[in-house]
Amino acid sequence: MESKVVGNNEDLLSGVTRRDFMKFCTAVAATMGLPIAAVPQIAEAVTSPKRPPVIWLSGQECTGCVESLLRTGHPSIETLIFDLISLEYSETLNAGSGHQAEAARAKSIEENKGKFILVVDGAIPVKDGGIYCQIAGKPVLDILNETAPLAAAVIAIGSCAAWGGVAAASPNPTGATPVHEVLKAKGIPVVNIPGCPPNPYNFLSTVIHFLTFNKLPALDDKGRPKFAYSRLIHENCERRPHFDAGRFAEEFGDEGHRQGFCLYKLGCKGPETYNNCSTLPFNDTPGCWPVATGSPCFGCSEEHVGFHSPLFSKAKVVFPTPPAQQPDAVPPKGGGAKGFAYGVAGAAIGAAAVALSQRGGKED
Ligand code: SF4
Ligand code: SF4
Ligand code: F3S
Repeated sequence: MESKVVGNNEDLLSGVTRRDFMKFCTAVAATMGLPIAAVPQIAEAVTSPKRPPVIWLSGQECTGCVESLLRTGHPSIETLIFDLISLEYSETLNAGSGHQAEAARAKSIEENKGKFILVVDGAIPVKDGGIYCQIAGKPVLDILNETAPLAAAVIAIGSCAAWGGVAAASPNPTGATPVHEVLKAKGIPVVNIPGCPPNPYNFLSTVIHFLTFNKLPALDDKGRPKFAYSRLIHENCERRPHFDAGRFAEEFGDEGHRQGFCLYKLGCKGPETYNNCSTLPFNDTPGCWPVATGSPCFGCSEEHVGFHSPLFSKAKVVFPTPPAQQPDAVPPKGGGAKGFAYGVAGAAIGAAAVALSQRGGKED
């Protein structure tokens, strides 16, 4: 039987084997692009008995972000999230409810002023004084405005919180607004972890970075951690060789779709969406991300793309040429020599096909 985690507090990470724990810390370091030398520091921070208090507020959301977080394994995020942080308040996960839960939230905020992490999922409706989303009879808009100035850091998890998401899709009847827009007037910075839902590791790695280094990870100009959102999905997509070779699925279920060809013509927004989905599968399961399952990326994590662009519209291709380090295009399954020749010759074919189809032309 494997030993349990032994850190500063032996029982802190209950039910997690040492091997799984070290694998987890290594994966977190890799996710953040940190050297292997950072693993012991991460392990020490994660097993520290000092757990940061977290207040988790929910606005207009579907609970998918929380559900996703609870479904990662080896070790389960469920174990880690409860052992790693002190979750003081979450409407979804609270054991209690009603006035007692609200009183516990107020007490925790008072006791942990300037020390707690505020996590928000869901958009914030601002129309008509924010009456379209209320908690205990109070608009979440007011609760956010009161709570955020007292937090050590604010994290907006999910595309609803980061960009408005599904609630802000046209015609946006409730005035659903991203968290950072609400807090802009107060000058409070917000870390955005967009995605619908986001990969739980992107959220967890951000929290662990804060725990380990006592500061937030480097952010891009949209408030997203650079370690997760600095590259287009299209740059590292497993179907990219087919894009470069001009091999596309034309319809769902056609021969190209079954062969695993590029999904660009089915509306894939990978070429204009910044996220690490193509390199960090969901739920610790290889191949667990939309494009690998045959579903075009709909740009769920990209501002103004997911929930705004029509599903089958063609994406704007930012980098039409393949990355330098990419190997030659692989032949289609069963394509043999003909397919391979097609691939080797085709580095520019995808770009040409895309340029034509973006202008409304026909490339065949
Ligand atoms: Fe649900 Fe997606 Fe919004 Fe998360 S981002 S709350 S999964 S709709
Ligand atoms: Fe992958 Fe989509 Fe890019 Fe095709 S268009 S290579 S499926 S990200
Ligand atoms: Fe979303 Fe596209 Fe990734 S739909 S989960 S950003 S592949």
